Amino acid sequence: MKSRLLITAALAAFLLAPCASFAADDTGGLASLRGKSISAPDVAGSDALRKAIETEPLDRDFTEQPPLVTHAVDEYPVTIAVNKCMDCHSWENARKEKATKVSVTHFNDANGKKLSTISSRRYFCLQCHVPQTDAKPLIANTYQRPAGTR
Ligand code: HEC
Ligand code: HEC
Repeated sequence: MKSRLLITAALAAFLLAPCASFAADDTGGLASLRGKSISAPDVAGSDALRKAIETEPLDRDFTEQPPLVTHAVDEYPVTIAVNKCMDCHSWENARKEKATKVSVTHFNDANGKKLSTISSRRYFCLQCHVPQTDAKPLIANTYQRPAGTR
């Protein structure tokens, strides 16, 4: 009985030991691609990405790329209660706001069925559309955009 208790205690110590050392350590030296510790995210950097270069749309880098947003988005909330983007980009309002209508693809559900309102798959616009900015590639690479991509 006593030896079984001892084994249990030893096992518990063995299993818990890594937790104790991880709690004390921060990240084991891991860093984000921007070179910041992952325990202290680069919040200022990500805020900068919400400001756009407000010019003509920049060229797309690949054919299926969601068009970049040509204006800042920091004042435009998208929550379960409100989608500010659709105030201007819905088919009802786009003409009045001189904005591009959301694409017809945005009304398809996961099975390709056409809906009369924006599909829930497309509700969170900023999952795909980001403001255009001169962010530098995080990793040097030799990617070239295909000819004729606009
Ligand atoms: C107050 C109206 C308004 C709101 C709100 C708004 N937009 Fe726009 N958006 C425009 C207008 C106008 C343009 C085109 C001219 C320009 O860039 O200002 C545009 C351009 C765009 C484009 C480029 C379209 C193209 O044809 O290349 C995208 C993508 C876009 N917006 C996405 C969004 C997203 C995502 C949101 C919400 C986070 C949003 N917009 C909120 C008015 C708006
Ligand atoms: C899952 C990714 C995704 C989401 C979410 C999404 N879009 Fe798009 N969007 C795209 C892609 C890809 C295109 C270009 C191909 C196409 O038309 O489907 C596009 C095209 C557009 C265009 C350009 C249409 C044109 O005729 O040139 C506008 C404007 C737009 N989206 C606005 C929005 C708004 C507003 C929302 C949120 C309500 C949204 N999108 C959500 C991926 C997305």
